[in-house]
Amino acid sequence: MTRIPRIGILIGSTRPGRKGAQVARWVHERAAIRRADAEFEVIDLLDHPLPHLDEPLPALAGRYEHEHTREWADTVAGFDGFVMVTPEYNAAVPGVLKNAIDYLHAEWAHKAVGFVSYGIGGGTRAARQLRALCELLGMGAVSPLVSLSLHADFKDRAVFEPGDHHVSALDALLDHVVARSADRRAAAPTQRETDEAEIRRHVDGIVDALRAKDLEGLRRLYATDVVSFDADPPLQHVGIDAKLKNWARVFTYFKEVAYEVRDLRAEVGDDLAYAHGFGRLSGTLADGTSVRGMWVRATFCLRKTDGAWLIAHDQVSVPLDIRDGKGVVDLEP
Ligand SMILES: Cc1cc2nc3c(=O)[nH]c(=O)nc-3n(C[C@H](O)[C@H](O)[C@H](O)COP(=O)(O)O)c2cc1C
Repeated sequence: MTRIPRIGILIGSTRPGRKGAQVARWVHERAAIRRADAEFEVIDLLDHPLPHLDEPLPALAGRYEHEHTREWADTVAGFDGFVMVTPEYNAAVPGVLKNAIDYLHAEWAHKAVGFVSYGIGGGTRAARQLRALCELLGMGAVSPLVSLSLHADFKDRAVFEPGDHHVSALDALLDHVVARSADRRAAAPTQRETDEAEIRRHVDGIVDALRAKDLEGLRRLYATDVVSFDADPPLQHVGIDAKLKNWARVFTYFKEVAYEVRDLRAEVGDDLAYAHGFGRLSGTLADGTSVRGMWVRATFCLRKTDGAWLIAHDQVSVPLDIRDGKGVVDLEP
């Protein structure tokens, strides 16, 4: 059964005494009265306290270190479209809203968004900036706008009493946001496709972290109890520390290191997945010699824990010449 779209009404201010909560309530009540074809929920940034962006990797990488980011990502991912209710601060979007947006990427992309702005001059400069920002994230910004004046639409500049003409503008905005969100729902990738993309990003994460010789970045990709059947002895590397020790040793061999992966294929289950491909470590050794490396077969087994995929087992091998038991290291994929 197709689910109706869920639309989040995001309050863009957290200031004590903010007017944003009144405006969001008005949007929510109107939406609930008029529309049975979507679910609406107010998203209050006070319920999702986020420090100034403190993730080490840009959101585009899709790998979040902090619990507060994962919680925020789950919240945003659960909606198909948004109405952003924004005031204008110094001719711009409030920092708290910009910060909350900057935390994520894929969770916003391809979703519909409409803007309800308010301020002395209707908050139009904030709305314009927000539109540009959302479009950059790949969101589908709808054209109808609701623009509320602090003078005309707030009694004594405090109590929200919007003019009647704003109701029809809001209805038009909701029409567009709901229609686009429903289209997106119909075309949304399945959980399997989302997981597969995540696993591919995970393997890309190995490539990036190796090139940067970033042991902490690598640590984030493995389960703490990882069992690794790596190419070099011993027979197995058990636990994250052993696995990282192995990578640390590689970093001492190489002044500059690169890792290339080809022909990666992934099969994904509910909370277990595997991927296999060919990998080649190359670079410049400590003494300046450049090495092309050899292609190996690599298999990654991943486990989903608390919504995040981690490598629980990996295996690296080269084919053996069965006559003399020696590895064949000059094959190309
Ligand atoms: C720091 C700050 C800067 C502001 N700058 C502008 C502005 O540039 N343009 C405008 O129309 N209103 C401006 N205002 C007025 C706000 O639009 C108004 O206070 C509004 O109620 C703020 O939204 P909030 O109550 O939800 O926080 C500013 C308010 C604050 C607190």
